[in-house]
Amino acid sequence: MTDASVARESLRKALEAFPRCRLSHLPTPLESLERLSARCGVNLFIKRDDQTGLALGGNKSRKLDFLMADVLAQGAQSVISWAGVQSNWCRQLAAASRKLGIHPILLLFTRPRLPRALDGNSLLDLICDAEIHTLELDSSRKLMTLDGVKDLVDRLVEKEARAGRNAYVAPIGASLMEGSMRKPLGAVAYVNGFLELLEQMEARKSRIDAVVFATGSGSTHAGLFVGARLFSPHTKIVGISVSDSRAETRECVKSIAQQTWLALAGSGRAFDCCEDDLVVFDEYLQEGYGIPDQSTIETIRLLAREEGILLDPVYTGKALNGLLDLVKKGYFQPGQNIIFLHTGGMPAIFVYRDAFREYLAPKDGTDLPS
Ligand SMILES: Cc1ncc(COP(=O)(O)O)c(C=O)c1O
Repeated sequence: MTDASVARESLRKALEAFPRCRLSHLPTPLESLERLSARCGVNLFIKRDDQTGLALGGNKSRKLDFLMADVLAQGAQSVISWAGVQSNWCRQLAAASRKLGIHPILLLFTRPRLPRALDGNSLLDLICDAEIHTLELDSSRKLMTLDGVKDLVDRLVEKEARAGRNAYVAPIGASLMEGSMRKPLGAVAYVNGFLELLEQMEARKSRIDAVVFATGSGSTHAGLFVGARLFSPHTKIVGISVSDSRAETRECVKSIAQQTWLALAGSGRAFDCCEDDLVVFDEYLQEGYGIPDQSTIETIRLLAREEGILLDPVYTGKALNGLLDLVKKGYFQPGQNIIFLHTGGMPAIFVYRDAFREYLAPKDGTDLPS
């Protein structure tokens, strides 16, 4: 056995030591985007983490395999989390909880300029019979940390305790180690995800030059980054921010990556990572989280037209828009193997119908249904 295969085996054992509920359909498919690649001059692949199977799937399902095992281990009867009203995280959390007989409680925040209808993800939350509390987000609150919502979450925990239920507080996106989550479980899931992807590419006798994806609460990015550091150091891990500035995203990803490294590689191996090592682009965020733009909508149309694959305007549409722009600007070399990680999010397509109508309706007067 080579040193590299010994290291991989020992990491695999470290990953297997984490308790895990097998809720997701894994491995997710890896597909070649042949028509889009021919247009771009790089070899584009898509890793279909939108196909994880849990109530329409997405990247959160991988994380929930680990987090729900922790919920069970802590003997909780209910799980509380929070996010925007169209949260894919909350939808998959509700489904995972229901599957395991746990009561899901969601704090869903509406914001000016963002769709608020009972549709898309919030409709699916209702169908899963999640306990839903909807609030308007005021500017004093930041959703990315428990601190920003602690007063509200504490009240729900107390209410659960009065009802005789032990509540697990799940941090947004299973990313930061806070609330009831004492290990970086979301990022651990994506170290595992990176290994899965690497093995799929190795089976094709191909190397991975870069992985590009939407980054928000940070643990997908942190997990992929640690996975690449461990198994494939030449691979660039490129996050396209869909919510925060580059500096904020890098700081958050760095801290989760450090915790993840410690949880997996132990304190025996130093983790030398500075913020400059983390590649984050925030220019494709455009006007802000959840606000669609023409170029993103056209990118969604392009992938649907060329490859028959759907993206959403909040996360994956912006991420692919960034990837294609970076290709155009020469950030990637011709012939490189670039993986686009499809992180899901399709339920939100339906709440953005007005943006699709505005940008995609035929200009020749053809009638669309109203
Ligand atoms: C569809 C989709 N893609 C990407 C992300 C970002 O993942 P992370 O929160 O791990 O950064 C999210 C998070 O909500 C998401 O719903």
